[in-house]
Amino acid sequence: MIALDQHPSGRHFLQIPGPSPVPDRILRAMSLPTIDHRGPEFGVLGKKVIAGLQQVFQTRHPVVIYPASGTGAWEAALVNVTSPGDAVLMYETGHFATLWNRMALRLGLKPEFLALPGSDETGLPRSWRHGVQAELIEQRLRDDRGHAIKAVCVVHNETSTGVTSDIAAVRRAIDAAKHPALLMVDTISGLASADYRHDEWGVDVTVSGSQKGLMLPPGISFNALSPKATAVSQSATLPKAFWAWDEIVEMNQTGYWPYTPNTNLLYGLAESLDMLQEQGLPVVFARHQRWAEGVRAAVRAWGLPIQCADERVFSPVLTGVITPQGVDADALRKLIHQRFDLSLGAGLGKLKGRMFRIGHLGDCNDLTLMAALSGVEMGLKLAGVPLAGSGVAAAMEFFAATPQPRSVAGAPVS
Ligand SMILES: Cc1ncc(COP(=O)(O)O)c(C=O)c1O
Repeated sequence: MIALDQHPSGRHFLQIPGPSPVPDRILRAMSLPTIDHRGPEFGVLGKKVIAGLQQVFQTRHPVVIYPASGTGAWEAALVNVTSPGDAVLMYETGHFATLWNRMALRLGLKPEFLALPGSDETGLPRSWRHGVQAELIEQRLRDDRGHAIKAVCVVHNETSTGVTSDIAAVRRAIDAAKHPALLMVDTISGLASADYRHDEWGVDVTVSGSQKGLMLPPGISFNALSPKATAVSQSATLPKAFWAWDEIVEMNQTGYWPYTPNTNLLYGLAESLDMLQEQGLPVVFARHQRWAEGVRAAVRAWGLPIQCADERVFSPVLTGVITPQGVDADALRKLIHQRFDLSLGAGLGKLKGRMFRIGHLGDCNDLTLMAALSGVEMGLKLAGVPLAGSGVAAAMEFFAATPQPRSVAGAPVS
């Protein structure tokens, strides 16, 4: 928060792909006094947030809320539906897919990690520049004639790369192979920013978190379930207690939890859901697409490669920017933070030092994004990175020429 070589004034620019800036409206809602989590008012709040979340996940089925970061909800998803030694098929899209894979190993599962082989002209792994290749999943499932694989796990919006994956295509691949594996999807950084349809896409467990498109602080996370996932959870034998869906789903019917829930984050969630509903999800998605296009216009004008190499799956949530060979992206980020009080996302795992990430999600608008792009452009120049042109000028042109999507009520959406 505090820039290292200056007295900070004005707001810090939190331009990482989550946690995203928390709107004042949500901060105010969270400042209300904590109430009795077994009292009558609480049940109203509990039912309201669960019903609102069902709309955001686009599901008619239960959504479980945990007082945990997204990693907890990853674990919850795995322990509820698997048994010791089960095979799970995972797909390497980037750092977060890698961490989920590692967690499956630690839980005593047998994860198999599919990936596109090799690296491309940037020297970076191809699999970290493209989305899930559904045909690889289909082929692997066809080969699994004994149905040893119990679940297919993919990341919808890979936050380490800015690449999305076509979840409906993964569902079609599982169905085409006539395989009974569950489909489990991490949309921790996609929910409430990128279009996501739990029921329509046939997802069995969706994992998400609070600190991205929902514009909340970190600290609560979610599992959306399908009836098939609920049925499988009743016979799955990996140890589960705190994460077990059954007791939570049962008590949630009256708006309560079997333990002390995170009351003030739930106030914030209720406010966030109101804000999303006022705008309408299609407008929220269009707003993110437009910001992403504006940011990509800037990156292209600088002449730097975008981490996502397939324009069909560009993330609406963040854009990864590859720095030229010899330019340490971490040193660049540090310089930008020190000089301009602007935080950018780091290159993670196999991308460390090779790229940085610009978050364009949640509570931003054209002008906050323009300011962030100015900070990046000044930083690139100070670091001596040769630029093909002005990204700031290109983004200004794009934002000025492209009208904002309008809310349901007809008011412009900032
Ligand atoms: C796609 C994805 N999955 C999982 C996680 C882990 O979530 P958390 O850090 O909230 O535990 C993150 C965090 O950024 C993420 O972006």
